[in-house]
Amino acid sequence: MRIKAELETRLRGLGAEVRPRRSLAEHTSLGIGGTTDEILLCRYETIPQIMRLLDDEEVPRRFLGGGTNVLVDDGELSFAVLHLPTSGPGMRVEGNAAYLDAAADLGATVTFCAKHDLGGMEGLIGVPGSVGGALRMNAGAYGTQIGPHVREVEMYRAASGEIETVGGSDIRFDYRHTSFAAEDVVLRVKLELPSQPFQEILAGIKVCNQKRRSSQPLAQKSAGCIFKNPPGGSAGRMIDELGLKGHRVGDAMVSDRHANFFVNTGEARGADMLKLIDDVRERVRGAYGVELENEVIVWRN
Ligand code: EPU
Repeated sequence: MRIKAELETRLRGLGAEVRPRRSLAEHTSLGIGGTTDEILLCRYETIPQIMRLLDDEEVPRRFLGGGTNVLVDDGELSFAVLHLPTSGPGMRVEGNAAYLDAAADLGATVTFCAKHDLGGMEGLIGVPGSVGGALRMNAGAYGTQIGPHVREVEMYRAASGEIETVGGSDIRFDYRHTSFAAEDVVLRVKLELPSQPFQEILAGIKVCNQKRRSSQPLAQKSAGCIFKNPPGGSAGRMIDELGLKGHRVGDAMVSDRHANFFVNTGEARGADMLKLIDDVRERVRGAYGVELENEVIVWRN
């Protein structure tokens, strides 16, 4: 998707920056994805105007956070990508409250809060991605989910076309799912976290890091778990039991370390990864009668 020069000028007037022909393979943890123009939303207050302008100009778009839970199609993409600036996102602590920019790195915020003697987030230490992405997905690991800590979210709400501040209790946080709409853009969040001495939090962080290192393919390109766990079950265990570790389509492969991680071992294309996902889903359906639901978000062209 190419942004026309005239539109680019108007977007620039609203404080946005257009970066032409970005390769999403370079901006996603899977290292997969075609090219498109990126619109960097540098000024939060102009986002409603920018969205109206893009509506008027009929520009299809998707919002990219940390790019760690998304599988993007190949080739020239049919949509532009919106992104928040990632340089120096704000993090601030006041009492038991942490005020975080959505673009902040999740892991960095866990350690930042820990240094201010605020715990409760240790389980999320190795979860890659941004705070905004973690919020959208209600990221979780080792018994911690971000949702219960959320007190306030400042967001662009697509339904109203305005920037609004929403209370944490007005957002539904389920297992890897929330009530945010696909076109909403999370901008800032306030978390409330329990006081805990730094050394104690650090010990918890070390345990989680150790568990993660021993069971997940952290050195390889992946999007974390591909499927949600079915109620009461484990997608990874089922795929493993079917002997599918190492199963591949082109350079897309079921990790031989954790069967719910699918890795890009080289030059995997989106089509390869999609085929691998379909193959595995079908095998699990055949063997267990369980329909696995994607956790990874798929952006088809
Ligand atoms: N297992 C296997 N083979 C495998 C993988 C797992 O037998 O290849 C077994 C394990 O031995 C264990 C069970 O399956 O008995 C569960 O495995 P694990 O503890 O690794 O947890 P998981 O359910 O596979 C979930 C989250 C992870 C999170 C971990 C740790 C989902 C889909 N996955 O994995 O989150 O890091 O728990 O809390 O909920 C993610 O969401 O992207 C993600 C990686």
